[in-house]
Amino acid sequence: MICRWVFIAEGRLKGRDLVSIKDLTREDFEQIFHIAEKMKKEGYSKNLKDKIIGLLFYEPSTRTRLSFDAAARLLGAETIWFAGVEGTSVMKGETLKDTIETVANYVDLIVLRHPCDGAARWAADVTTNRMKRGHKKVPVINAGDGKNEHPTQTILDLFTIKERKGRIDGLCIAIIGDLKYGRTVHSLIYALSLYDCDIILVAPEALQIPEHIEEFMKRKNMRYEKRSKLEEIISIADILYVTRIQKERFPDENEYNKVKGIFRLNKELLSKAKSDACIMHPLPRVDEISTDVDSDYRACYFEQAANGIPIRAAIMSLILGMI
Ligand code: CP
Repeated sequence: MICRWVFIAEGRLKGRDLVSIKDLTREDFEQIFHIAEKMKKEGYSKNLKDKIIGLLFYEPSTRTRLSFDAAARLLGAETIWFAGVEGTSVMKGETLKDTIETVANYVDLIVLRHPCDGAARWAADVTTNRMKRGHKKVPVINAGDGKNEHPTQTILDLFTIKERKGRIDGLCIAIIGDLKYGRTVHSLIYALSLYDCDIILVAPEALQIPEHIEEFMKRKNMRYEKRSKLEEIISIADILYVTRIQKERFPDENEYNKVKGIFRLNKELLSKAKSDACIMHPLPRVDEISTDVDSDYRACYFEQAANGIPIRAAIMSLILGMI
């Protein structure tokens, strides 16, 4: 027992940024899962007392912001935050760099959601350069950057799969919906490269995964196929990971109108799914899963949302080296 906690205390995440899921290993995931499971079972200790977490959300959020906030409070930390740039000096033209330079003076950890791809990496570089000037390093957690990545969502997704199925290896995982603009999907695909899974990418041609991600899958020898119809694959998938069409990321609303409502998982279609399938969704949903699915025992999207707290509590504790 002592050895395990020494291992955890020397965890690889201490002091690091969490910008891309590609920066993590299976061992990192296992360590986070282990702590999250323990927190879920045994409760939260005040190990982040005297810490201040900055939640900088330039884009709308319900789950990510509130679960980071709740997790921080359960661990005894204080949070300072903005939700939307209204009321901040971003409205006066302040750059992301200057905001990060400033907020890094006030907090121990920054959680950033931003509409631009790469914003979290940029913010992490700003706090690293600040450290080189003699300040303490303030780690940055990516809470979603544009259409790029959403790594903490993926960690809680994998945790939920493990809770439900007892494993991730050997599963057939169908990822359905907006694979082009969906950042949760991108991080999930990167993470699944560390596991032995069969992946089915279900999307209309216009919303299939970006070329650079398909290239990544090929390089990693991932087993995948592309399909356009949910009906064709519903009976073979162990995991049906459904996503919202990301209306806000389409450069042209006409293009959005061509694909909106293209998938709708309802109770009738679900009758063709495996009896032990898991229906997942990062949420928010619009109409891609009908509410008559919510009461089905295979629906686990609200479990995913609930797991945001222990997973984010574990991540913050590890990064701040307080466990
Ligand atoms: N899954 C997710 O990122 O949800 P929010 O946009 O509500 O944070």
